[in-house]
Amino acid sequence: MKKALAAVVLFALGCLQPALAQDKPANATGGIQGQNIFEVKPDASADKGYDQQTNAERAKVQPGNNAPMWRNVGDGLSGYTSLPKSQAPEAGNLVQPIVQYPGSLNTTAGEAWRQVRNNWIIPYGGALLLIIAGAIALFYFSKGTIGLHGQETGRKIERFTPFERSAHWANAIAFVILAVSGLVMAFGKYFLLPVIGSSLFGWLTYLLKNMHNFAGPVFAVSLVIVIVTFVRDNLPSKGDLTWLLKGGGLLSGKEVPSHRFNAGEKVVFWFGVFALGLIVVASGLVLDKLIPSLMYDRGTMQIAHMVHAVSTVLMMVLFLGHIYIGTLGMDGAYNAMRTGYVDETWAKEHHELWYDDVKAGKIPTQRSNSPSPVAAPAAKA
Ligand code: HEM
Repeated sequence: MKKALAAVVLFALGCLQPALAQDKPANATGGIQGQNIFEVKPDASADKGYDQQTNAERAKVQPGNNAPMWRNVGDGLSGYTSLPKSQAPEAGNLVQPIVQYPGSLNTTAGEAWRQVRNNWIIPYGGALLLIIAGAIALFYFSKGTIGLHGQETGRKIERFTPFERSAHWANAIAFVILAVSGLVMAFGKYFLLPVIGSSLFGWLTYLLKNMHNFAGPVFAVSLVIVIVTFVRDNLPSKGDLTWLLKGGGLLSGKEVPSHRFNAGEKVVFWFGVFALGLIVVASGLVLDKLIPSLMYDRGTMQIAHMVHAVSTVLMMVLFLGHIYIGTLGMDGAYNAMRTGYVDETWAKEHHELWYDDVKAGKIPTQRSNSPSPVAAPAAKA
C-alpha cells in the first residue's frame, strides 16, 4: 500500500517537472529561478574566493544575493554618515560587532546582552531573591523575634540623632521605591502581567520606571551622606572576628558583645552600603545618562545594565536581611531608628561594649539637642 502511494507521488512530481521548468525565464541572467526561492542562478558558490566577495562582486555573479552586505552589517561594520560622532556615536551602524559577555555566546553584542539578561540575570537573580526571602521567612517562623531577656529600665540612650535618622530614612525610602520599581521592571511580566493585564501593567511599569529614574539621584545623594555619617562606627575593631566566627551568637542564644555596630552590621555597611551601593549608583547614573561627557553607545549601556542588575540583586539580598532584623527580627531595633532612642537593657543585651562606653562616659547618652524621652542619667565625664 505504502509502495503504491509513493509511486503515485513520484509520478505526480514527474508530471509537474516540465511545468516548473517552463516557469523559468528563457534567458535568465541571474536571481531567483522559478518558484523555488533557493534556486538562485547562476550558482556561483563553487567560485574561488566566493566567501570573501564584496557585495559588488557578488552582485556580478549572483544578482540579488546581498549576503556579503548583511554579513558586514552583522559584523558591526559602520556605514558612512556625516553626523558628528559626539552627538550620534552609533549613527550608520545597525548591528553591533561580535563580543562575548560573561555567560553569553560569541555573537553580536545586542544578542550577547540579551542572552546574559534572559539566561542568567533574570532566572538566577529571581531565584536568589526568592530563596533568601524564603530562608528569612523560615528563620522567622522557626526562631521568632529576638526579644529582650531582661526587664526594660525606662532609661533611654540616644542611639541615632535626628540627622542620622533623616539620612537613613531618606535613603531607605528611596531604596524601597527603587527596589519595588526595579523588581516590577525586571520580573513583573512573569508575576504581574498575567494577573492585571497588559494595559494596567503598561501604565504601572511606565509610572514605576519614571519613579525609578527620580528616586535614583535621591538614593545616590543620601547614600553618600549615610556612608559619611556611619563610617566611623563601622570601622573594624577588636572582637569583630570573634563575633563573625560565632555568628553573633545567634544560634547559641548568647549574643557576642559588640560596639555601637556589630560585625554583621559592619559587613552590611562595607559590602552592601559602601561597595555595592557605589557600584549600583555609578551604573545607575550611566543608565540615566547623567555622567557628563560619557559616550552613551549601546555597548556602554549594555555593560552598565548588566553591572547594575547584578549589583542591585546582591544589594537587595543583603538588605532583605537588614530590613528583617531592623523590623520583625529584633524587638526594639525599628524603634531605635524611628525615635532615635533605645532602652538601657536593649543597649546592654545587643551592644554591650557600646553600652559600657556610654556608662563609662566615653560616649554621651544624649548626642543631639532633640528632647529625650527619659534619658539615662548624664554620664560622668
Ligand atoms: C525599609 C528599609 C530599611 C529599614 C526598615 C531599616 C532599618 C534599620 C534599623 C532599625 C537600623 C538600626 C539598627 C541598629 O540600631 O543597630 C538601621 C541601621 C542602618 N541602616 Fe537601615 N533600614 C532600611 C534600609 C536601609 C538602606 C537602604 C540602607 C543603605 C543603603 C541602610 C543603611 C543603614 C545603616 C548604614 C545603618 C547603621 C548601622 C550600620 O552601619 O549597619 N538601611 N536600619
